[in-house]
Amino acid sequence: MNQGKTRVWPSIIVLLIWLWGVTGGSAEDPYRFFTWNITYGQIYPFGICQQVILINGQFPGPDIHAVTNDNLIINVHNHLPEPFLLSWNGVQQRRNSFEDGVYGTTCPIPPGSNFTYQMQVKDQIGSFYYFPSLEFHKAAGGYGGIRILTRPEVPVPFPEPHGDFTILIGDWYIANHKDLKSILDQGKMLRCPDGILINGRGPNGVSFTVEPGKTYRLRISNVGLQNSMNFRIEGHVMKVVEVEGTHTLQNTVSSLDIHVGQSYSALVTADQRAKDYYIAVSTRFTTQALITTAVLHYRNSRTWVSGPPPPGPTTDIQWSLNQARSIRTNLTASGPRPNPQGAYHYGQIKVNRTIKLANSAALLNSKQRYAVNGVSFVPADTPLKLADYFKIAGVFHVGSIPDYPTTVQQIHLDTSVMGADYRAFVEIVFENHEDIIQSWHLDGYSFFVVGMDIGQWTPNCRKQYNLNDAISRSTTQVYPDSWTAVYVALDNVGMWNLRTEFWARQYLGQQFYLRVYTPSHSVRDEYPIPNNALLCGRAKNPIS
Ligand SMILES: *[C@@H]1O[C@H](CO)[C@@H](O)[C@H](O)[C@H]1NC(C)=O
Ligand SMILES: *[C@@H]1O[C@H](CO)[C@@H](O)[C@H](O)[C@H]1NC(C)=O
Ligand SMILES: *[C@@H]1O[C@H](CO)[C@@H](O)[C@H](O)[C@H]1NC(C)=O
Ligand SMILES: *[C@@H]1O[C@H](CO)[C@@H](O)[C@H](O)[C@H]1NC(C)=O
Repeated sequence: MNQGKTRVWPSIIVLLIWLWGVTGGSAEDPYRFFTWNITYGQIYPFGICQQVILINGQFPGPDIHAVTNDNLIINVHNHLPEPFLLSWNGVQQRRNSFEDGVYGTTCPIPPGSNFTYQMQVKDQIGSFYYFPSLEFHKAAGGYGGIRILTRPEVPVPFPEPHGDFTILIGDWYIANHKDLKSILDQGKMLRCPDGILINGRGPNGVSFTVEPGKTYRLRISNVGLQNSMNFRIEGHVMKVVEVEGTHTLQNTVSSLDIHVGQSYSALVTADQRAKDYYIAVSTRFTTQALITTAVLHYRNSRTWVSGPPPPGPTTDIQWSLNQARSIRTNLTASGPRPNPQGAYHYGQIKVNRTIKLANSAALLNSKQRYAVNGVSFVPADTPLKLADYFKIAGVFHVGSIPDYPTTVQQIHLDTSVMGADYRAFVEIVFENHEDIIQSWHLDGYSFFVVGMDIGQWTPNCRKQYNLNDAISRSTTQVYPDSWTAVYVALDNVGMWNLRTEFWARQYLGQQFYLRVYTPSHSVRDEYPIPNNALLCGRAKNPIS
């Protein structure tokens, strides 16, 4: 059957099929509806007026609260004078990459127009965030928290906290995002960010009020542009309980490294003398550290924060590496389903394929570019997923990025797409030969972070893999001159962005798409194009 004709089916049939597909045969999972207006507005986080992206007048945007398997219907009205898209970091969009909201999957929402995302948070729990994916909009905010709560019948491995706070941290430029974009478009590098925002505010601009003796869940995401952050609370320890949808072994830490793009949940108990305490956030592994603070305010406190904020940990990479290795899955805890997270024995599955990915930076025609395995990604005129769906030739070709790093130092431009078989079980080794810290994210998936270490990866490094209780997440750091290895079961058909979360590098080509393919055309494997999909580029008149 001609897929192009899908759109002329009576819409009720399309809707029924969609409902059937989304709910796996039952339309009982609840729907949550959101209407969002995207506009520009002004904020003054450092006392200087700045243009930011507001959602319904807010910066950061509203939190999305959902429960496992909810259907989220989010109608985004773009009132900006330029195209816009939101993407959902860590939300897996099962069988549904059309809704992923990145360049390669979804047409931009034209100015003055709207698009309704229809997505289900199938079999997911945990803490994530959304962000604007096009242009360099991320430097203008437009982000917000996503929390997916456990269904009431599924146990959570810690007592219900008294409160639950979203804390979005990230580095920030005082410059307008359009000026930053134009520097990158000219092929120049950006200088370092100017400061750090916590929930869109500058130093001590936000305070979290707690009742003495009570325990709170903090959902902390690093929504910034490049820097790893250390997060700590003066006089308090934190218990790490969840990372990007996985319940962890509940380690107690006095500070936590959160790399760009990552999300953590930590519990903190207000068990100290009633006063105000600093929440400190500072950059990691930078020559000049940035630091900012917020306030943990005991309700009965009469003492404002004073003195220096608590110092961060040593900048020794080993400290951070050791902490990363201690972040493991609690195998007996439930995840989105009542059965234990350890029921899936990833360590016993045979790896079908090894992919090695190395980041690099180089000048190309005197312009700065960044690459993965020697290929610097450039967008084509049509979203790749739509080109694939409508079988439009010449937009991209599968295999335009190799499985291994090239030995030549040169890089070239291409609309890089790596092919992969549905249900393959893949090992990905991220190699970082540069002296910066990297952070890699894969859309559509969680992967098991089986190992990371300083130095060059060799097959011998597999001996040190954690094949038992590695953390399953969607964003991992790779330390300078180090490697990180992940295992991923490719059980989600679609076109998925694999990218650095270092945003200027992502913008200048350090990303590609993983096309997880099956020849089957069953909605069990992948949904048809949504009935309201925007069409653009060569997909505008796909039947002709
Ligand atoms: C969005 O904007 C429209 C007008 O463009 C307005 O009617 C509506 O109330 C706004 N909605 C929200 C939630 O701000
Ligand atoms: C735009 O919003 C209207 C409702 O205001 C909705 O009916 C329509 O489907 C939306 N457009 C898209 C492309 O989702
Ligand atoms: C693991 O989860 C179980 C709940 O199944 C909980 O009782 C236990 O305390 C957790 N262990 C750790 C070390 O976090
Ligand atoms: C992966 O390997 C397993 C076990 O060897 C095999 O059953 C499966 O067909 C392979 N899958 C792919 C997609 O290559």
